[in-house]
Amino acid sequence: MTEPRPSWHSNVGFLLAAVGSAVGLGNLWRFAYLASESGGAAFVLVYLVVIVLVGAPLLVAELAMGRSAREGAFRAPGRLVGRRLEWVGALFVLTGFAILSYYSVITGWTARYLVAVARGAVERDTAAQFAAAASGGAAVTWHLVAMALTVAIVAGGVRGGIERASLVLMPALFVLLIALAAWAATLPDGGAGYAFYLRPDPARIWRLDTFTSAVGQAFFSLSLGMGAMLTYASYLQKGGSLVREGFVIALADGSVAFAGGLVTFPIVYQFGLQGQVGESTVGALFIALPHAFATLGATGRIVGTAFFLALLIAALTSAISLLEVLVDAVVARTGWSRRRAVVLAGGATALAGVPAALDLRWLGAADRIAGNLLLVVGGLIIAILTGWIWTGADAELADGFPHPRVRRAWIWLLRVAIPAALALVLVGAVRDALGVIAAAIR
Ligand code: TRP
Repeated sequence: MTEPRPSWHSNVGFLLAAVGSAVGLGNLWRFAYLASESGGAAFVLVYLVVIVLVGAPLLVAELAMGRSAREGAFRAPGRLVGRRLEWVGALFVLTGFAILSYYSVITGWTARYLVAVARGAVERDTAAQFAAAASGGAAVTWHLVAMALTVAIVAGGVRGGIERASLVLMPALFVLLIALAAWAATLPDGGAGYAFYLRPDPARIWRLDTFTSAVGQAFFSLSLGMGAMLTYASYLQKGGSLVREGFVIALADGSVAFAGGLVTFPIVYQFGLQGQVGESTVGALFIALPHAFATLGATGRIVGTAFFLALLIAALTSAISLLEVLVDAVVARTGWSRRRAVVLAGGATALAGVPAALDLRWLGAADRIAGNLLLVVGGLIIAILTGWIWTGADAELADGFPHPRVRRAWIWLLRVAIPAALALVLVGAVRDALGVIAAAIR
C-alpha cells in the first residue's frame, strides 16, 4: 500500500519550512567568510542584487515546477518534460545526498559547540579545540547525533514533523538573532566591524570573483539548484501566488544573512579576530567567535549559548529539507512507507558523511564540488527548462505576477540573462573543481 502524498497544513507552515530550508549554516557560516574574503560591504551589495535578479527568479521557477508536477525533485523533471529528462531528477537527488553528507557534519560541530559553550567549557586555544572537534571519533559521533535529530524530525512526516518543527523553531531563531544583534550593537569597539561590513569599497564591486562567489552563495543559501524548494512546493495545494512566495522566502533569507553579519562582524572587530576569519573557511564561526565568548566570561556563556542555539536551529531546519528530498525519492522509487524510506536515506547519508567528519579536506572538496559546481549546473538546467522547454510554467504562475512587465522580465531573465551569468560562473567552478580533484589524486 502506498501512502497518499503528503501536503502542508497551512501556507504559513509552508513558508516557514521553506525559509527554514533557506536559512541555514549558509547564512551564518558561509556568508560571513565569503563576505570577509571578498571585501565586506562590496560583497554584501553584489549579493543583494544577485538575490533579486538571479536567486528569486530561479526560486519561483523551482516552486512552479514542484507545485505543477506534484512530484519531488526525483520525478518532477521527467513528469514535466518527458522521459528524456529523468536523469535531471537523479542528478538533483545525488547532489542533495552529497550536500547533506557534509552538512550534517557541520551541524554536528554546532551541536557539540552548543553543549561546550553552555557548560562554559571553551578552551583558551580555540583553534586547537576546533581541530579536535573536527576530526576523529568525536566528529563522527556528533555527525551521527545531527543525522539522528534530522531523521527524527523527518520521520514525523511533512505536517507532523517538518511543518510542526518549523512553526516552533523559526520564530525562535528570529528572536535569538535579533537579541544577538542588539547585544552586538552595545560592543564599544564594534564600529570598525560595521564599517567593514556596511561601507563598500567601489573597486571590489565590479570584480568578477565577487560576482561569482555571490552567485554560488545565493544558490547555496536559497537551497536552489537541486530541487529542495521544488520538493517542498510539491506538497502545496493549487492557488496562492508562487511569485510572491518566492520573493518573501528570498527576502527573509537575505535578511537573516544580513542580520547574521550584524552579529558576527562587530564581535570579530571588537576582539581583533579579523585574521582568523578569512584564513580558514570555518574560522569565522568555530574558532573566532568562541574565542570572544571565552573572553567575556558569564556574559559570553549566555551570548555564546544563544548564538550556537540559533545556528543549530538554522542548520537542522535546512538538513531536514535535504533529507526530505532523498526520502521522497526513495518513496517514489520503491513505494515504501515513509518511515522505512527515512531510515534508509538517513542511514546511507550518515555513512557517506563519515569521510567528511574525519577529514576537513574531504569536507571542503565536497562543498566545492556539490555545494558550488553541481548546484550551479542544476540551476542552469532549471533556468533553461522553465525558460525554453517546459511550457507549463506560464499556466502555473498565471495571475501571480504583479504586472505583465514583471512577468516578461522574469521569462527573459530565465531564458537569457541567468543562463549567461551561470555559464560564466560555471567556467570558474569547473576549473576550481578540477583543481580539487587534481590535488586529491596527487
Ligand atoms: N540553504 C541552506 C543553508 O543556507 C542549505 C541547504 C538546505 C541547501 N537545502 C539545500 C543548499 C538545498 C543547497 C540545496 O545553509
